[in-house]
Amino acid sequence: MRQPILTSTTSYQSLRNHASQAREWQMRELFAQDPQRFERLSTEAAGLFLDYSKNRLDGRTLELLAELARERGVERLRDAMFAGEKINLTENRAVLHTALRAPRTRAFELDGQNITGDVHAVLDRIKTFSDSVRSGAWLGHTGKPITDVVNIGIGGSDLGPKMVCLALRQFAHPRLAMHFVSNVDGHDMDAALSRVNPETTLFIIASKTFTTAETMMNANTARAWFLQQAPEEALAKHFVAVSTNVEAIKTFGIDPANMFPFWDWVGGRYSVWSAIGLPVALSVGFGYFSDLLAGAHAMDEHFRTAPIEQNLPMILGLVGFWNREFLDCASVSIAPYHQDLNRFPAYLQQLDMESNGKRVTRAGDTITDYDTGPVIWGDVGTNGQHAYFQLLHQGTDVTPIDFIAALRPAHEFHNHHAALLANCFAQSEAFMKGKTADEVRQDLAGQPLDEIERLVPHKTFPGNRPSNTILMEYLTPATLGALIALYEHKVFVQGALWDVNSYDQWGVELGKVLAKKIEAELNGEAQPAQHDSSTNGLIARAKAAV
Ligand code: F6P
Repeated sequence: MRQPILTSTTSYQSLRNHASQAREWQMRELFAQDPQRFERLSTEAAGLFLDYSKNRLDGRTLELLAELARERGVERLRDAMFAGEKINLTENRAVLHTALRAPRTRAFELDGQNITGDVHAVLDRIKTFSDSVRSGAWLGHTGKPITDVVNIGIGGSDLGPKMVCLALRQFAHPRLAMHFVSNVDGHDMDAALSRVNPETTLFIIASKTFTTAETMMNANTARAWFLQQAPEEALAKHFVAVSTNVEAIKTFGIDPANMFPFWDWVGGRYSVWSAIGLPVALSVGFGYFSDLLAGAHAMDEHFRTAPIEQNLPMILGLVGFWNREFLDCASVSIAPYHQDLNRFPAYLQQLDMESNGKRVTRAGDTITDYDTGPVIWGDVGTNGQHAYFQLLHQGTDVTPIDFIAALRPAHEFHNHHAALLANCFAQSEAFMKGKTADEVRQDLAGQPLDEIERLVPHKTFPGNRPSNTILMEYLTPATLGALIALYEHKVFVQGALWDVNSYDQWGVELGKVLAKKIEAELNGEAQPAQHDSSTNGLIARAKAAV
């Protein structure tokens, strides 16, 4: 059904009027006026605490944003997603990654069928397989236990399992080294193969479609490498597949008994909860993998039932929408103050940008008068502080930041953890407060006056820069699951407000098609086509270098 254009809705217009005043607000003053600001603008659920008080907004802003969410039918769409309606309109598919993390007893309906049984049947197989690899019962073709797992996949078939395996390294099996090959660049494969022994390596070919060019090329290379050192019958002990495409797996030569299926109602970037999470189950064990799912499920239940005003994903989505739409923030920086979350920004890039990087509405109308998904980027603290935080503090763009931290470390270097948290909290304070010219003058007191005045503009910080802080007690499988689900639902909320289909990704197709043509030209299998002069010139240089 065609929605009214976002900007024509009553609540959007009220927000626009409200924003004309809010743009003038100084957060320093908002904090000074309201000693309860932190208590009022923070909330918690599923083991995560969210402080959103360091944003340029007040209670009225939140009321208006909640009204907008109601007027845009965000709750209705959420309920439709959980009910298995085909809300991915361009692919005519349901969006049911939440069913992957629901307990066995909870029914999820798709086309009148309960799918929970199918989900748990695959989970049971993951358990049996991962238990046997981890215990050493699963042997390679020469009778040795598996020591290395190489996951071959890209996008959602790589970023999720890789990010989670790194984040949960404290829980990892000591015998199993995890490797991830995603890039079609042969250096990626070369680096992985140079570290493993074919007798003790398990390859997982992970691809929802089993047609993705990079993954297929990498899978064929791995297979050829393996078969140079082992007989054909050995493949069954060393190659398994995760996919929705049984036929393609058979054609590749993998026994369907070694295939872990999932379904078209799981988007690639939402698939770490499915069999795509097999590397996680192998690395940390099925028990911790289940805890990851349970943490996500706790966030699902919160998202499904809590009123908008106390609902973490709703709040995170609405505040981000406010910053994007009314304070002109074109990007969001993700700053996990936890080394083990160092792939989390890259994971969120796909989750958010592939979902909401859209320029037409769900009905196909071109969006002309508002902005959609922001650029997502970032790195772990404190490293980012010594690289790009300069721009965040004093550059001409305002970039909201999400700080993420665990209150307790999983190591014994407690002085390090105090230093880490101090930096995290200090940065959010500095972004909010900034430093006035008078404060700079006080700091420089004693120096010659003309020298002070020369330095004042350089040492002044505008402040008033928004941030959220998300805290958990420890980084555990459960809190990580909740954190990922929090961002999944935040993306959902924003997609619903912007009226875009967050569940397709047609934008990646054009480059893929052109790459196929150019690859044939580079290999001399096709005559040079009519490209522009730049592309022709680049192809010619590459051919000359061969
Ligand atoms: O090209 C984009 C994309 O389709 C992503 O959405 C997906 O996660 C990735 O490619 C990998 O796809 P597959 O799992 O089918 O190989």
